[in-house]
Amino acid sequence: MTARGCFISFEGIDGSGKSTQARMLADHLRAQGTDVILTREPGGSPGAEQIRKLLLEGATDRWSAETEILLFTAARRDHLERVIDPALAAGKVVICDRFADSTRMYQGIRGAGLRDLVDRLHAMLIEREPDMTVLVDMEPETGLERALARAGGEARFETFGAELQTRLRAGFLELAATAPERIMVIDGDRPAAEVAADIAARVEARLP
Ligand code: ADP
Ligand code: TYD
Repeated sequence: MTARGCFISFEGIDGSGKSTQARMLADHLRAQGTDVILTREPGGSPGAEQIRKLLLEGATDRWSAETEILLFTAARRDHLERVIDPALAAGKVVICDRFADSTRMYQGIRGAGLRDLVDRLHAMLIEREPDMTVLVDMEPETGLERALARAGGEARFETFGAELQTRLRAGFLELAATAPERIMVIDGDRPAAEVAADIAARVEARLP
């Protein structure tokens, strides 16, 4: 595992149940006495939470695709330096609600050359990949219904609609197929407790 701890990210389309599942896995591991940090992106450190506000609030055309990639990468770098790396060095399990795969998908599919830009910035400034990634897979219609039912002011991405969510879902599944040793695909369209039991069993099988 990375450094001395273990880094687990949760990925999936909006409303797939990632946050619920990340929390349930953290609770489950803590109940067994594991030292767990539960965090999220964009955000997770004070500076990155400020960048989160810039990214998720306001008009959909507030930033160009390139500027947005820089902001997500800046937020990730701060989160990594101040929260993730210190926790891993201290031997903790870090559970992160979204990480670099979200940028590869959400920003990478927005135009020609953008995925390459995301990958180059990642290689220069982030480098780290999670030890394990849980991809919570879900029909876009179901996910979007759930995400919109959960009211909030952070609607810049969710308002992009079902067609985009369909492309994102396909992109996440393709990514999982290219990195099967890291990314586990979990069917999220089941009762939360059932999904959580599935994830816990698969994660525990791989924890040191
Ligand atoms: P995400 O972080 O992927 O956007 P959330 O965990 O915030 O998803 O869940 C989105 C909404 O769906 C929340 O209102 C949550 O309570 C609900 N939810 C989560 N998991 C399930 C599930 N397995 N079945 C039904 N509703 C769920
Ligand atoms: P999140 O709070 O996880 O939203 P949700 O619970 O609806 O899944 O993430 C907020 C939005 O930010 C979400 O629509 C995905 C988007 N996002 C990116 O576009 N790129 C990224 O690198 C990350 C981390 C998130």
